Parts: sequence; C-alpha cells; structure tokens
Amino acid sequence: MSGTRAGRFVTVAKVGEIPEGGVKVVRLDDREVAIFRLADGYHAMDDVCTHDGGPLAEGIVEGDVIECPRHGARFDIRTGAVRAMPATQPVPTYPVRVEGGEVQVEWS
Ligand code: FES
Repeated sequence: MSGTRAGRFVTVAKVGEIPEGGVKVVRLDDREVAIFRLADGYHAMDDVCTHDGGPLAEGIVEGDVIECPRHGARFDIRTGAVRAMPATQPVPTYPVRVEGGEVQVEWS
C-alpha cells in the first residue's frame, strides 16, 4: 500500500453511454455529479451551480461551456471556472479516467 490518501476510482458510466455533447448525472455519496462528454473525452463536475444551486446538467452545452438553466451563468466544463456572471465561484471538478470500457471518477 502506498499510504497516500489518493481517491478511489468509481465507475459512473459505460463507454458509449453518453453521446458527445451529452451529460449524465450520478450520485456519489451525497453529491450530484454531472459527467459531461466533450470531443476530447469525459469531464466531471458538481451538478450544482455556485450561484444559487441550479442543476447544471439541465443547461445547454456550447463547446466546452455549460450554461446554467436558472440564471444563465456559464462555466468551463474542463476546469469549472466561471465564464459568465452571475456566478462568481468556480464549480468543483473531479478527475476522470476510462478503464476497461468504463468511465470512472476519482472520488475521495
Ligand atoms: S443558479 Fe445558476 S445562474 Fe443562478
């Protein structure tokens, strides 16, 4: 054992299950996490807008940006960074890997 506190990887989808430009919401512990698929692969972020809790996965994906359906804040899907107000805080993101035909999120 390494003794580090690195997260474990949790399977959240099968490869091919999420179409390009699409998203799937999964529950990990007590959090809703949105798994987005862009042209370069999969990206995971909280499915909770930092402005007022809007469900991001119900918004519109435009390129590598998700627009919150509630008041229109925009976030970078790869980094969670704010791209447009009214949100001012980034959305937490999580590492994703593809292993044995499964999409997995690093979850600690
Ligand atoms: S809740 Fe997302 S922009 Fe207000």
